[in-house]
Amino acid sequence: MLRIGVLTVSDMGARGLRADGSGEAIRQTLPRMQGQEVRYAIVPDERERIAEVLREWADSGQVDLILTTGGTGLGPRDVTPEATRDVLDREAPGLAEAMRADTLKKTPFAMISRQVAGARGRCLIVNLPGSPKAVRECLEVVLPVLPHAVQLLRGDTASHPTA
Ligand code: MTE
Repeated sequence: MLRIGVLTVSDMGARGLRADGSGEAIRQTLPRMQGQEVRYAIVPDERERIAEVLREWADSGQVDLILTTGGTGLGPRDVTPEATRDVLDREAPGLAEAMRADTLKKTPFAMISRQVAGARGRCLIVNLPGSPKAVRECLEVVLPVLPHAVQLLRGDTASHPTA
């Protein structure tokens, strides 16, 4: 079972002015990765606040994978990638590259997202853009590799799914 934290980054959502459709879109995919939601929060688009939650969840030892949604674009308040880099030990650029490249076939707007991914300790953190549609499209791309990526982070390097 993958222990998953869902972090929605949205000024409007954090003020209760918008329903969290993208958090819900993440939730709907959890059964497909045998995921269990163990943390959930909505925070405003503030770098320090986002980084604080990411650190807390990753360092708790109780979360294998954090999926963030929102704040990855080019708006003046879009700072999720910066906040994520603030806390990562190691980037895993292939995950973000794959989501952008593959979903470009569906929409040219995919290239606008500055989403990043990587590891803090044994926790994998993956940014997703901020619409339910984008969440579904991007998760579709990385879903098949997430369990193995988490396995590797836990130190289980014996199995090779492609062998
Ligand atoms: N990626 C996919 N796959 N599908 C989408 O619809 N929307 C884009 C982009 N990435 C989109 C996508 C748009 S319109 C924007 S503005 C950026 O993600 C950033 O969104 P965010 O700031 O809400 O994270």
